[in-house]
Amino acid sequence: MNPVELIRKKRDGGELSKSEIDFFFRAYLGGKLPDYQMSAMLMAIYFRSLSDVETAALCRTMVESGNVMDLSTIDVPKIDKHSTGGVGDKTSLIIAPIVSSLGVAVPMISGRGLGHTGGTLDKLNSIPNFNVNLSDAKYVSMLKKHHCALIGQTKSLAPLDKLLYALRDVTATIESIPLIASSIMSKKIASGLDGLVLDVKTGVGAFMQSLEQSRKLAKTLVEIGESYGKRVKAFITDMNEPLGFAVGNWLEVKECVECLQGKDVPDLMRVSLTLSGAMLLLADKCKTIDEGIEMSKECLRTGAAFEKFLAIAAAQGADTAPLRDLSRYPEPKHHETIVADSSGYISHINALEVGLAAVSLGAGRHKKEDVIDPKAGILFAKKVGDRVDKGEVIATVFTDKEQAIHSSAERIRLAVSLSSAPLDPMDKVLEEVK
Ligand code: URA
Repeated sequence: MNPVELIRKKRDGGELSKSEIDFFFRAYLGGKLPDYQMSAMLMAIYFRSLSDVETAALCRTMVESGNVMDLSTIDVPKIDKHSTGGVGDKTSLIIAPIVSSLGVAVPMISGRGLGHTGGTLDKLNSIPNFNVNLSDAKYVSMLKKHHCALIGQTKSLAPLDKLLYALRDVTATIESIPLIASSIMSKKIASGLDGLVLDVKTGVGAFMQSLEQSRKLAKTLVEIGESYGKRVKAFITDMNEPLGFAVGNWLEVKECVECLQGKDVPDLMRVSLTLSGAMLLLADKCKTIDEGIEMSKECLRTGAAFEKFLAIAAAQGADTAPLRDLSRYPEPKHHETIVADSSGYISHINALEVGLAAVSLGAGRHKKEDVIDPKAGILFAKKVGDRVDKGEVIATVFTDKEQAIHSSAERIRLAVSLSSAPLDPMDKVLEEVK
């Protein structure tokens, strides 16, 4: 087979056979195909897309590029949750302890922040000494003992995805439904789970900005999962406004700890509890999502979920003192408040702008090698729908980088819109994809 012919075929809108996909992508994994040819193929896929059959074939090649974890020695259902990425999206840290404290194993393999979106791995890394790089054996033993492991993609797990992901990030080929779907599902299938709940974000702060695109992505993800015999449920949730009040790694961990201790942050808890309820349903722990939500609330009320979070963190090497006493975390060097310049009701907080401001403050990366400042970020005092009076604080930005603070605060100020009429906050769970 000739790589140039295969690129041309896709460029001209043709359908690649399973063996052509396997040949082309395996050659890249083996170092026999240069980045420039893979970049051309990715761009051809970006413009021409892949059929369902091609997408399934690509996902299979990615899964088979590494090991598929054998979790058969874990005798409880293994259910994970995956979000397609957003701003202030910290539900994993709430859901994983809830669901694992209810006798379901949660094999959670997460990624770093990408572009303006935050990543669970960066949030975990803000907890002192939390080790996200476990060996395969330690991963399995965490799942056996604690029914949860919170880790990053290991070397053996879908290595082809890891290579492609890095190349897509720098060739403007991330936002492609078949590429996103095969990337996400290859890692999930290789992680050894039985079932998966998907949180597909939609809106200005998401990779898929229209409801139609998000539905299409959700359906593709579900189809791939089901073709592997996995139980899958998908929800579309809103990502126009950041989720919760906190954006930035430690600030988000702190908000999660407060929620695990019983605080109600309505939009964050609405999404988290819907997803945990759905995971419990997939695990046959309840008959309806609502029943799963009630079970989740109960383990928050008893403190079981928070205790579970501490146990997982300790088992992965973390210093749990700042989780037990949030005031023990180092303070950022600088902060600046954003105050309302008129009175009214908050009508929009642009999640994309907030995410970009968070990156500039040091909570994310402009380049792969940038070092994250775990303390950097934004803490909102108001959410969409809230009343605000002139001079009242809307948000505070935090950073160690003095040079970034004014421009980021200004960006946040411009990201917030006010209206003179009151408005109801929308439900963040937009729909379940059937
Ligand atoms: N998350 C992934 O794992 N892969 C993508 O392509 C996009 C988001």
